[in-house]
Amino acid sequence: MSIQIYNNKTFLLSTEQTSYVVQIDDSGILSHLYWGRKLPDIEDFTGRIPTRDNSYHASIDKTMEECSSFGMMRYKETSMKVRYADGTGDFRYRVTGYQAEKDCLRITLEDAFYPLKVTLYYEVFEQENIIKRYQKAENQGDTDILLERFYSAEYGIPGTSYEVINFNGTWGAEFRKYSDKVNAGKKVFESLRGSTAHVANPCFIVHNGAREYEGEVYYGVLEYSGNFKIVAEATPYEYLNVLIGVSDTDFTWILKPGESFATPAAYCGYSHQGFSDMSHTLHRFCLKELVPEAFADKSLKVLYNSWYATLFDVEFEDQVKLAKRAAGLGAELFVIDDGWFGERNSDTSSLGDWQVSKKKFPEGLTPLIDEVNRLNMGFGLWLEPEMVNEDSNLYREHPDWVYRFPNRPVLKGRNQYALNLTKEEVVQFMIASIDNLLTEYKIDYIKWDMNRPVAETGGTSEVFGEGKEVWVKHTRNLYRVIEECRKRHPDVEVEACASGGGRVDYGAMRFFDEYWPSDNVDPLDRLEIQESYSYIYPAKYMRAWVTDSPDGFTKRKVPITFALHTAMCGALGIGNNLNTLSLAEAEEIKKQVAIYKRIRDIIQFGRLYRLKSLTKDEFHAVQYQKDGHNIIFAFLINGRYGKEQYHLKVKDLIPDCRYRVRINELEYSKSGAYFMYYGIDVTLKGDYDSQLIELDRI
Ligand code: GLA
Repeated sequence: MSIQIYNNKTFLLSTEQTSYVVQIDDSGILSHLYWGRKLPDIEDFTGRIPTRDNSYHASIDKTMEECSSFGMMRYKETSMKVRYADGTGDFRYRVTGYQAEKDCLRITLEDAFYPLKVTLYYEVFEQENIIKRYQKAENQGDTDILLERFYSAEYGIPGTSYEVINFNGTWGAEFRKYSDKVNAGKKVFESLRGSTAHVANPCFIVHNGAREYEGEVYYGVLEYSGNFKIVAEATPYEYLNVLIGVSDTDFTWILKPGESFATPAAYCGYSHQGFSDMSHTLHRFCLKELVPEAFADKSLKVLYNSWYATLFDVEFEDQVKLAKRAAGLGAELFVIDDGWFGERNSDTSSLGDWQVSKKKFPEGLTPLIDEVNRLNMGFGLWLEPEMVNEDSNLYREHPDWVYRFPNRPVLKGRNQYALNLTKEEVVQFMIASIDNLLTEYKIDYIKWDMNRPVAETGGTSEVFGEGKEVWVKHTRNLYRVIEECRKRHPDVEVEACASGGGRVDYGAMRFFDEYWPSDNVDPLDRLEIQESYSYIYPAKYMRAWVTDSPDGFTKRKVPITFALHTAMCGALGIGNNLNTLSLAEAEEIKKQVAIYKRIRDIIQFGRLYRLKSLTKDEFHAVQYQKDGHNIIFAFLINGRYGKEQYHLKVKDLIPDCRYRVRINELEYSKSGAYFMYYGIDVTLKGDYDSQLIELDRI
């Protein structure tokens, strides 16, 4: 049973491995009591919540609340902040009811005087060890109520000196993992860019010295792709208060009489077995519960993308030539990136004009698609639907369709403007342009890009003080567009890209089949990005291309096998310039693509183990396990002192079963116990050497 209730006031939510306990205290406040390893018996929680009142401390700040409200002498960061028409600014509530049904629990809080009702929703995913939370505010009166902050969830974690992990970065340097100690004050991770952005990720990982396979870890993710905020506050009362939700910066939701506002969902989990267990739980959960159905069980194809070969200079003959070469290497999807539409010859024009360029493709795309299909590949296209260039027919016709302040020139980012998605005509235009393309042409895949942040949103309402709901409406309407397009064209695979990894989050996961984690394709940088990415996101949702060396970003030269092995850690793509590729490189790509196709189910659907961390260990290794089949990639970055023998202990084998290991031509079998406790000897020699190891249960 996932939900137990005692005495109408204590609630024990249990998954297979964890428990979460909340209780209504004597003043009607909903307090958090426990989050951790599974507890069997709710009756152990019958005592009163101890509060240490004295006249210098408001006891309310000492209480770990499930939904605290600004006001009433609460001075910590709170879940919500409201204002009623008469200027009163707090939510003075009592729990007024609850409803439990199967795995779901709802608890309602109502203000003692004002007609505001807040419902807290909990859903227990018992097998997945995840608890979902969100909350809804309802205006039951007849005047407006302002919601100035309304996060999705609040978590109290007793103790001090916690570290909080998030992933920060910028274009080309996504997913830099930081673990910062919060001894006092607040640690805030936030995006104000209208998308999740590179700068932080909508997730939190809290620990106190946890490691890969041991230690307590509390974690949560937000199902949202817009402005978000995570606050971890070390309160003076020896608990860390963690809040996650839509950012309250430049946010006010005007709750009209009879209206309600529901937050996006937060999913949280706990493990006492370190970061590895956390990643397994999250990966399994999102693959099972969140990702779009059409591709949930299908392994992703090997794609070729011609961006680095031709940049904006795409035209029929060249693309056919590249398609033939890509097919020869084993690609299953042929993708044209930017440059195929309008007058697009650089990033300064044509976004918004989603018609195939007559100059580049005089007969339209069909002859190319036919040729690609004849070569046994699907066809894919790049799009950036949320944007428009000043130099475009769309902007010339509708200059009022972009976010802008009335008396200021509009700011450009990557030479483009962001469309105002809160306008219904813009939403309909986006749906129609994508629908037209997907109806006219046999398109199997879209790379959905987004290359500048949203800004200057203030001009969306003429009423002074209004218009701050625009950020949320923008994100909701973006989801509407994607949802509608996917409904009309369910078989089209869609990849999310936002100048690389600017839209990697659990909200996008409902609508996209995969993500592009970074425009940085340097294999060494990518290994680090990939390792951090794997904390929260599964390998299947990580497109990774092999590209030419030296890399354009870093000028680093690495052998093609190392680059291939790096890219094979996710959903493999090929991005090389096939016009200049040497015969030997082509042969190696062909060989590894064939291997990848044989093992990709293990990588895309298997359990991932970070065996050796790139940043900490002498060499880097990652293992994928599925149904007794294991794939291990080992990478040596910096070969030193002539050392060539390395030793690797693997995970997740059955100790007394026999396993056969294959490393190149070498093959032998031993027990699972041997490989786990003694390990495998791996030869890695010199800078940028790598090995693919297969280990199968016999
Ligand atoms: C962005 C993407 C790239 C590429 C270019 C095309 O930078 O992240 O992968 O598609 O746009 O303009």
